[in-house]
Amino acid sequence: MSASSAENFDPAVLEQRVHELGEWFHNLNLHGVPTAPNHFLGDFPSIKWRKICQDIPLDLEGASVLDIGCNGGFYSIEMKRRGAGRVLGIDTDDRYLNQARFAAQTLGLDIEFEKRSVYEVDRLAGQFDYVLFMGVFYHLRYPLLALDTVVKKVGTKLIFQTMVRGSDKVIPCEKDYSFWTKDIFYSPEFPAMYFIEKSYSGDPTNWWIPNRNAVESMLRSSGLQIIGHPEDETWICEPSHVQRHGRYILDLETAGELKPDEEASPA
Ligand SMILES: C[S@@+](CC[C@H](N)C(=O)[O-])C[C@H]1O[C@@H](n2cnc3c(N)ncnc32)[C@H](O)[C@@H]1O
Repeated sequence: MSASSAENFDPAVLEQRVHELGEWFHNLNLHGVPTAPNHFLGDFPSIKWRKICQDIPLDLEGASVLDIGCNGGFYSIEMKRRGAGRVLGIDTDDRYLNQARFAAQTLGLDIEFEKRSVYEVDRLAGQFDYVLFMGVFYHLRYPLLALDTVVKKVGTKLIFQTMVRGSDKVIPCEKDYSFWTKDIFYSPEFPAMYFIEKSYSGDPTNWWIPNRNAVESMLRSSGLQIIGHPEDETWICEPSHVQRHGRYILDLETAGELKPDEEASPA
């Protein structure tokens, strides 16, 4: 029986397959069958996408997309539905990858899914017009290493989302502070990431949770320009000063040659 046969759209058959694929984090609508109807965040991630999608062209005109930490494939599917060309979703979790493959196949969408970590995206050939790096940053022990790696793959736009906690105020930072300046560290607006040694929200992989000013500082520090902030946890960015003398920040830093004050250049 082929995957697109009428019988496979039978709700009872779909429900059974959805159930067999384990617990879903993405609530997808598979021909009327919801995959995670009892998600603790509601109809997730549709509720988030409704706010973000207005900042993404309705017609993606064959643009290439890399969806990092694609999970059940919600964002890959939505980008494909908007006319993206190549869409590659990567994740480290086989359960989610199997769910995403099943969802795309059920919906008749040609999307590639591959087991790959964010730390390994620079081994992928070329760049992608749109890179989605959503809901992964705070799950990483080495968040800036990941961000600097991801930046190398961004052709035109990065859609970045992270959990944020603490102050949502943005204050400009000075170019330098004297060694004796200590009051700034008592200011909740100063860029800060909270380190979770044990667990947050029942999830021991929630390692680092930044405040808003830290997110925006890190995005700029990784050579990105923030062009949109469609909702509390999401930023749209473009590469602006991601290289120094033709070399990426990641490569300079890992070689011990990064001089942060040196004049930056676009990719
Ligand atoms: C909170 S979910 C976010 C899913 C989706 N991007 C979203 O925003 O709804 C985090 C996802 O990141 C994946 N993940 C965790 N560590 C990863 C890594 N090192 N590389 C790629 N994906 C990772 C998890 O398996 C999971 O699917």
